[in-house]
Amino acid sequence: MSLLAVRNLTVRYGALEAVRGVSLALEAGEALAVIGPNGAGKTSLLRGLLGLARAEGEVRLQGEPLSHRTPEALLQRGVVLVPEGRALFPGLSVEDNLLLGGFTRLRKGLREDLERVYRLFPRLLERRRQPAGTLSGGEQQMLAIGRALMARPRLLLLDEPSLGLAPLMVREIYRILGELKGEGVTLLLVEQNAKVALSLADRGLVVEAGEAVLEGKAEELRQDPRVVEAYLGLAREVEEG
Ligand SMILES: Nc1ncnc2c1ncn2[C@@H]1O[C@H](COP(=O)(O)OP(=O)(O)O)[C@@H](O)[C@H]1O
Ligand SMILES: [Mg+2]
Repeated sequence: MSLLAVRNLTVRYGALEAVRGVSLALEAGEALAVIGPNGAGKTSLLRGLLGLARAEGEVRLQGEPLSHRTPEALLQRGVVLVPEGRALFPGLSVEDNLLLGGFTRLRKGLREDLERVYRLFPRLLERRRQPAGTLSGGEQQMLAIGRALMARPRLLLLDEPSLGLAPLMVREIYRILGELKGEGVTLLLVEQNAKVALSLADRGLVVEAGEAVLEGKAEELRQDPRVVEAYLGLAREVEEG
């Protein structure tokens, strides 16, 4: 049984259909990359399946329909989002931002979880008293992921974790995501950066203008001419040039 199964999800903003009948399934321990250009509906897909945007269609977690999904209910079931733009509290310290991520557990195990995050992201330990707003973009992304980990996710959804980051920082973030995957965390990655997302993911789903247009194993998508041309061509030229 899939950990997450989404069937025929549609998200509308007034007359605009941002997501049109998208289906996907995610097995426990698997990483799925949803790729597509800016405006394709990737964020809307995440928001729709999390109940943050009104959506039609069916969402099941371990076979159980999530008909009344609220962020709290999803959090309790181990579904945690690292939103695009990170949504940190810039005036609060790094550590307070992390502790807020664990607030649902009322202190039980918070210390160990904090240590785990600091082990994964030593930069955050060095900067734990610093206001989050003073961190670099990459460090803020680390903090956003760290905060999500404080909620002990089974299913971690990440919206454009590499957006706007320098290549070295992207590599570092993806190294950590790979570690989390190795620990058994199920990942749903949404990225414009198809190259990096498909390098980590087991499977990929290409979304264009709100519709799922292509799906397959990540290694097959990396070689699919349609993907190479539309999403990997430029990246290759840059790398080789
Ligand atoms: N809150 C909103 N209200 C109206 N239109 C929106 C809203 N959010 C996104 N859109 C539109 O929906 C489409 C998909 O956007 P989005 O899901 O953010 O795409 P992506 O994350 O792939 O860049 C775009 O045309 C965008 O302008
Ligand atoms: Mg988006």
